[in-house]
Amino acid sequence: MHLIVKRSGMTEIRVRDKKFELFLPEDVILKGIKTVAESINRDLRDKNPLFICVLNGAFMFAADLMKQLDFPCEVSFIRLKSYQGTKAGGAVKEVQGLNESIENRHVVIIEDIIDTGHTMYYLMEKMKGEHPASLKVATLLFKPTALQSDIRPDYVAIEIPNDFIVGYGLDYDGHGRNLNSIYKIKE
Ligand code: IMP
Ligand code: MG
Repeated sequence: MHLIVKRSGMTEIRVRDKKFELFLPEDVILKGIKTVAESINRDLRDKNPLFICVLNGAFMFAADLMKQLDFPCEVSFIRLKSYQGTKAGGAVKEVQGLNESIENRHVVIIEDIIDTGHTMYYLMEKMKGEHPASLKVATLLFKPTALQSDIRPDYVAIEIPNDFIVGYGLDYDGHGRNLNSIYKIKE
């Protein structure tokens, strides 16, 4: 279960050269994360999973999600770059890889957003080759109408329409990651 939020407009902010309006306030984000935490607490309790947070965008989501997990688990970080300005779907570049082996581990990738799905497809293909016991994806945000790839996230906090957004870890041109709510671009 996840929340589905339709288009709506409110408070306006500016990040670099663009205007954004309030889209998902912090309490809505945290409510979505709680539903994901409940599912993961149920599904992976006895599996000593390894969570892999995809930097930079997923750092806030990973922190708030992991605080709500109440069983033994580990976390590590990988850094990818695949995005310029407001367009998704560019080539994926691994800037910093994993130090630990995922062989025979129950792995959960923690992503900020699945847009075209190209990044997640790349990452999953690469990780499958390293023979994890299982491989799941938890994403804060999912844009189903932007998806161009044959992947389905296992855990989605919030499903959103295909608008460019910023805040709560997600950036526009490197800025806006520190916002505690999520804002969408104004046309
Ligand atoms: P995908 O490969 O098209 O699914 O895009 C993946 C990456 O693009 C995400 O991990 C984000 O870092 C970035 N991204 C996609 N959509 C947005 C957005 O609306 N705002 C900010 N970053 C985004
Ligand atoms: Mg990302």
